[in-house]
Amino acid sequence: MRLAWITDPHFDHAKLETWRRWADDLIAFAPHALVTTGDISEGDDVAYQLRCLVETFDRPIYFVLGNHDFYGKSIAETRRLMIDLARDYDHLHYLTDSGPVFLTADSVLLGDDGWGDASEGDYLNSTVRLSDFELIQDFRADAPETWRTILQREGLDSSKRLQQKLVALPAEVRHVLIATHVPPFREACWYEGHITDDNWAPFFVCGHVGAALRQAADENPDRFFTVLCGHTHHEGDAIILPNLIVHTGYSRYGTLDVESIINLGSDGFRLPPAW
Ligand SMILES: [Fe+2]
Ligand SMILES: [Fe+2]
Repeated sequence: MRLAWITDPHFDHAKLETWRRWADDLIAFAPHALVTTGDISEGDDVAYQLRCLVETFDRPIYFVLGNHDFYGKSIAETRRLMIDLARDYDHLHYLTDSGPVFLTADSVLLGDDGWGDASEGDYLNSTVRLSDFELIQDFRADAPETWRTILQREGLDSSKRLQQKLVALPAEVRHVLIATHVPPFREACWYEGHITDDNWAPFFVCGHVGAALRQAADENPDRFFTVLCGHTHHEGDAIILPNLIVHTGYSRYGTLDVESIINLGSDGFRLPPAW
């Protein structure tokens, strides 16, 4: 089982020539499936880019959405459109709307979008103003005083959906691969080799998802949890518990990469750099 992992491709920033070269490389790696951890593009272009991927890459494509993918619409409407789109194609799977996918007899892939949920850092004194607040309908339509509640709600909803999938896993599952956009722990929120400060943390950590993952790992010490995320565009690994590790992926606007061709050994998922 070999899985190609990409994060934050922001395809709308890549030239067609770059996309073609990247797609050729991806196919040459001959992975069994592709996992995408969000910020595929923005607005209507997200569906277009996913269609291009589906038509180019004839293997299962598993994705979650990042904050940029919601630009131009409401969170709920974007999710509805993505659920409909995934139903149009046999090999396109929106993990937020899907149950665990068995990769082997004892390993599964599951996921959820996640959201920077104001659970870490200093929200009230933060100077960060993401474009999300201008470009996502939920925030645009509401006064800034309500934004914190919306962020918390999104984080909590994500964690509840994930928790449902995690608690229902059959006993034989030993390895769980989790795809999400936002780093679920402050320790996994990398920026230039350091972890986030209090100014950025409210928007770059999904603490509710982190709590659900920590609980699952605590309650199942013989099960290994490997998390893939992005959002910060800066790479790093964080060992949260002996059986819970988070990989945060690299990205740069205008370039396209494959983070890793993930394989599964007896000791769990291995993530060698793809290049
Ligand atoms: Fe991004
Ligand atoms: Fe993002």
